[in-house]
Amino acid sequence: MTIAVPKGRLGDDILDILNEAFGIKVEFKERKLIFKDKENTFLKVRNADVATYVNKGSADIGIVGLDVLTEKDVDVVKLLDLQRGKCKISIGIKQEDNLQSLYAKPELKVATKMPLIAKRFFSSKSIPIEIIKLNGSIELAPILGLSDLIVDLVDTGNTMKENGLKVVEDIMDSSAYLIVNNNSYYKNKKEILSFRNKISKLI
Ligand code: PRP
Repeated sequence: MTIAVPKGRLGDDILDILNEAFGIKVEFKERKLIFKDKENTFLKVRNADVATYVNKGSADIGIVGLDVLTEKDVDVVKLLDLQRGKCKISIGIKQEDNLQSLYAKPELKVATKMPLIAKRFFSSKSIPIEIIKLNGSIELAPILGLSDLIVDLVDTGNTMKENGLKVVEDIMDSSAYLIVNNNSYYKNKKEILSFRNKISKLI
């Protein structure tokens, strides 16, 4: 099977679990992005691309944050919550602002790197918004008057606090999920469920 592992801290954590589950040592040496052992191939990919590799069938299995998967909006099997990389997607505003006064505005400017999650949330509340799509350092936007609020990932909450923002509402909880390509799941159900069971014993 081919397994897409995300780069970064989450990926390292997940590799430890995979290594323990299979008694192997997956290592991406230097700039290598592929590691093969006798049975499996491991791909080192960007977190935001894991769901694409799995959805398109280039990987059978992947590990991805639920927030990123929700934003991608692709059809894959969500096999197991790995209970790692836990965080929330939340709304942040300036310390001195009041959420109800902001909600009373005719249109809200929302800065985020997760436009789909933000759009769905505000649409469910019938609040008109304009999305300001950013790729990082989202917390700067309200301070500079670029947006009224942000929709962003919150882990420790330090980045918001250090930048004069406060969390006023949570939109969703996120953690890393084991995901599977639909066809691979139906073709190799036994193998994939045994993979799932090995991993689930370690979390
Ligand atoms: C993420 C997120 C917040 C920060 C939250 O940014 O967008 O800025 O982490 O973490 P905290 O609650 O523990 O402070 P990331 O580090 O991925 O960098 P980015 O700004 O480039 O997206």
